[in-house]
Amino acid sequence: SSTRFYDFKVQTKTINKLCNTHQIVVVNDMFPGPVVYAQEGDRIIAKVTNESPYNATIHWHGVRQILSCWFDGPSYITQCPIQPGQTFTYEFTIVNQRGTFFWHAHVSWLRATVHGAIVVYPRTGVPYPFKYPYEEHIIVLGEYWLQDVVQMERQTLASGGAPPISNAYTINGHPGPNYNCSANDVYKIDVVPGKTYLLRLINAALNMEVFFGIADHQLTIVEADAEYTKPLTTDRVMLGPGQTINVLVTADQRIGKYSMAVGPYMSARNVAFQNITAVAYFQYLGALPNSLSLPAKLPKFNDNLAVKTIMSGLRGLDSSKVPKEIDTNLFVTVGLNVNKCRSKNPKQNCQSNNGTMAASMNNISFIKPPVSILEAYYKGIEGYFTDDFPGAPLKFYDFVNGAPNNAPIDTNSMNGTRAKVVEYGSRVQIILQDTGTVTTENHPIHLHGYSFYVVGFGTGNYNPQTASLNLVDPPYMNTIGVPVGGWAAIRFKADNPGVWFMHCHLDSHQSWGLATVLIVKNGVGHLETLPHPPADLPRC
Ligand code: C2O
Repeated sequence: SSTRFYDFKVQTKTINKLCNTHQIVVVNDMFPGPVVYAQEGDRIIAKVTNESPYNATIHWHGVRQILSCWFDGPSYITQCPIQPGQTFTYEFTIVNQRGTFFWHAHVSWLRATVHGAIVVYPRTGVPYPFKYPYEEHIIVLGEYWLQDVVQMERQTLASGGAPPISNAYTINGHPGPNYNCSANDVYKIDVVPGKTYLLRLINAALNMEVFFGIADHQLTIVEADAEYTKPLTTDRVMLGPGQTINVLVTADQRIGKYSMAVGPYMSARNVAFQNITAVAYFQYLGALPNSLSLPAKLPKFNDNLAVKTIMSGLRGLDSSKVPKEIDTNLFVTVGLNVNKCRSKNPKQNCQSNNGTMAASMNNISFIKPPVSILEAYYKGIEGYFTDDFPGAPLKFYDFVNGAPNNAPIDTNSMNGTRAKVVEYGSRVQIILQDTGTVTTENHPIHLHGYSFYVVGFGTGNYNPQTASLNLVDPPYMNTIGVPVGGWAAIRFKADNPGVWFMHCHLDSHQSWGLATVLIVKNGVGHLETLPHPPADLPRC
């Protein structure tokens, strides 16, 4: 293994897109940003210099950061932001992982444009569990706004309403021909008839889950969230923000130019939606340039069944480490509310309906503290968080549920910065139960510092008597789309000490408080203990 150095400059870039000239924040003048290439076992040293006018941090999404929590990146969780003009160097080793990941800003809504792929190859001589294809391509799916996304976040939160819908979906930064002024702003892969390609799909969108498909071609999923799966062949995939999926595609159709498309998955009921798709070309050698195929057939934006069908078929390739017993069992509701007092007092009970959007886990709307929780925890500084995140919904609000046709009444959330403390080595199960008063919807819940086995999911309320769990070959993921009006069960062994953010990867929901923090305590040995903070850790 070797050490790889990266120099990231976070800076503003003037860009021409969608008939407009405007500025966005990017890394190294590229959109999407530079690809981080590594091999399993490599050490990454990434020096991040913030030349933008906004606070920045970089999170290495999906990298488990074994004993390197200080370099995980979420602002106010593991570090203070890198302020304009400042530098911070991230250092971590990629332990026992290979596959497709991505890095992204983890402060405000900067992630919309500050993101890029991470590709980790297996150790030399370790084969892939599938025939290695002819070629591979990175496909970053995104959402694009013409307005400044940091200001957009401020305005959205101040207004109390929902965020504006993006101006375009993008494929590697390109909206494609369905959008104005974008006939030539389109991504293209040239393919050789008969050959097979590996596509590394990354959903880097800010606030949208998406479907992806290629007209007339089948996709075979071989990896999800940087862990191998049993091959699963399908016409389309769905990725929540934060998810990565590797698919194999064979150019086995008539010579032609085929549409690769990205469109929204929006499970919430009563949302009117314009089904415009971003399009890229999957173009055979010898195809006539103006012979574009019919559009790729994506499911309708609210096709929950399509999502369930894909997810039901997904199986881990090696799930031998799935915990069969559990020591810590948590039940966590995830949902949207309308009630929230804007009080900074974390103990205040927010009963009054002031009509602003909020979100919560177990009735707690997470508030980021003004310092990093990791630092406060490590140094024993009191007053910035409490360790009383409830292991179940608060009793004094009768939790009903978010199952379809059921009236959920977990409307009254409290603001709080409450962490759940977990013993080192504990085998944890978390039942994530979708709920909500505004509407129920699929929430892509991401856990930092770990991958987890998705041992079950279903519609309606989780019922321990009837829920059947898969302890044989569940997929090993880091982000799980909790089904709309349903539940998902995840398991993992808490063997990586640190302060780990768990949150909805739809950024608007995260800002509204759909998050909490797991603190995994140190073990007894040197290799089970969080090291000291780095000297150049940013100050708040
Ligand atoms: Cu990809 Cu907390 O994030």
